[in-house]
Amino acid sequence: MPNQFLTKYEFDADRKNYYIQKVSQYLKDHHKKAVAFVRSFGCQQNESDTEKLSGMLEAMGFTFTQDPKEASLILFNTCAVRENAELRVFGILGSLKKIKEENRAIFVLCGCMVQQESVREKLQSSYSYVDLIIGPSALSSFPELLSEKMENESARIISVSENISRFDEDLKPRRNSDHSAWVTVMYGCNNFCSYCIVPYVRGREVSREPDDILNEVRTLIREGYKEITLLGQNVNSYGKTLSSPISFAELLRRICTLDGDFRIRFMTSHPKDCTRDLLEMMASQPKICKQLHLPVQSGSNEILDRMNRKYTVESYLQLIDHAKALMPDIAIPSDIIVGFPGESYEDFQKTLSLVRTVGYERLFTFIYSKRSGTKAAQMDDPVGAKTKGDWLNELLLEQEKITSKKHDEMVGKCYNILVESKSKEIGHYTGKTEGYVVVDFPSDKDLTGKFATVRITGAEKAFVHGQLVE
Ligand code: SAH
Ligand code: SF4
Ligand code: F3S
Repeated sequence: MPNQFLTKYEFDADRKNYYIQKVSQYLKDHHKKAVAFVRSFGCQQNESDTEKLSGMLEAMGFTFTQDPKEASLILFNTCAVRENAELRVFGILGSLKKIKEENRAIFVLCGCMVQQESVREKLQSSYSYVDLIIGPSALSSFPELLSEKMENESARIISVSENISRFDEDLKPRRNSDHSAWVTVMYGCNNFCSYCIVPYVRGREVSREPDDILNEVRTLIREGYKEITLLGQNVNSYGKTLSSPISFAELLRRICTLDGDFRIRFMTSHPKDCTRDLLEMMASQPKICKQLHLPVQSGSNEILDRMNRKYTVESYLQLIDHAKALMPDIAIPSDIIVGFPGESYEDFQKTLSLVRTVGYERLFTFIYSKRSGTKAAQMDDPVGAKTKGDWLNELLLEQEKITSKKHDEMVGKCYNILVESKSKEIGHYTGKTEGYVVVDFPSDKDLTGKFATVRITGAEKAFVHGQLVE
């Protein structure tokens, strides 16, 4: 049995930088292969954390590969929000065991999943070949843990922390895109929706200082980034934990005063905290994309109450009306959970009806997944998986019709898009509108990373066709 030690992590930048140097020197002195295979399994916050972990790897001298067989270090950043996300990770870990043994690669497991004690126990008993286990609030301990591992090959080290103690402002992420960037504005969540594990694995809400956020955005704009997405589990409660509290609307206003050709998105907004101030700020600032991700979860008041969402269908619809009155072109995507414990077909029909009323641009739909430790895990859940699957399909069909209609309505209109990459079709490029609709268009020039205006000429289910407008 390899030795194990558990560290409770307190952030310290000097200490982190000392270990970055130490690993880098160790790799050079021992002529070690330093190639990493890195994969993210979770939400945007998780992807953003992965970019930070990759940034640390790069600083320590690692290069990156898409093939785990070539790697001397394999890192997975995991998600715990639904059971299948966890099962996938366990499955992949099992399938990579042989590579680990053949290459003597170091296995690193980070993210929300490992924050659960039950998962750590399972890793200990059945996946003892995982070398480093790092919780989401202990990211910056990675270089130190890696250094310990390199010096003591049999070590197995776990680093977790319930809450983030301080933001690591000197982390340089290795960003996946040259034109769109994530910027974390807050960590954690205080809402305890009864189905959700996030507050248990990410800890309490902590907001980042506005000046630090502004500095990061300023740097990104200087580096040529065109789209900044502000991230938090519930951005509308941003600022409450600051020594000088400010609202999220005020944070947006300050970002919009920065010079440069860029646009801003943010996610996610909890409807209970979505203020009129925020909607008015969105309407008044051209740099803010007219898109509001506003997860509703259910269209039944009884279910919303048992989900502990703290709003009603009526108050939610009022919010949507207000947003549409201020911004007639606003795109509103949402999240829906199908088959919450005790949900009846009548409740589900109320969700369908709400979906038709709002006319969402897009929906992220999930079948309820029981998460141990949450309130909903104690509730009776009599409806079977097959029935829940049928309901989900009914919802998907309804949403397909709505999305198709929305795409058809775009034909003939002009949109400003950020061009993201070459398209599958030769001589074509793709970009996204403010409302996050994918546009495919022909162009002689490579406009990747630039804004362009396109007129929509045709609609498909998943995207629209366009022509550049001079
Ligand atoms: N903080 C965000 C989203 C967090 S998780 C918010 O409040 O909107 C993203 C989505 O996963 C949630 O909106 C919800 O629809 C879904 N989700 C969370 N827990 C779930 C569970 N136990 N089963 C199924 N879906 C879940
Ligand atoms: Fe989960 Fe609710 Fe927090 Fe979103 S707001 S992360 S759904 S507890
Ligand atoms: Fe995100 Fe999954 Fe964690 S949704 S916050 S990575 S549990």
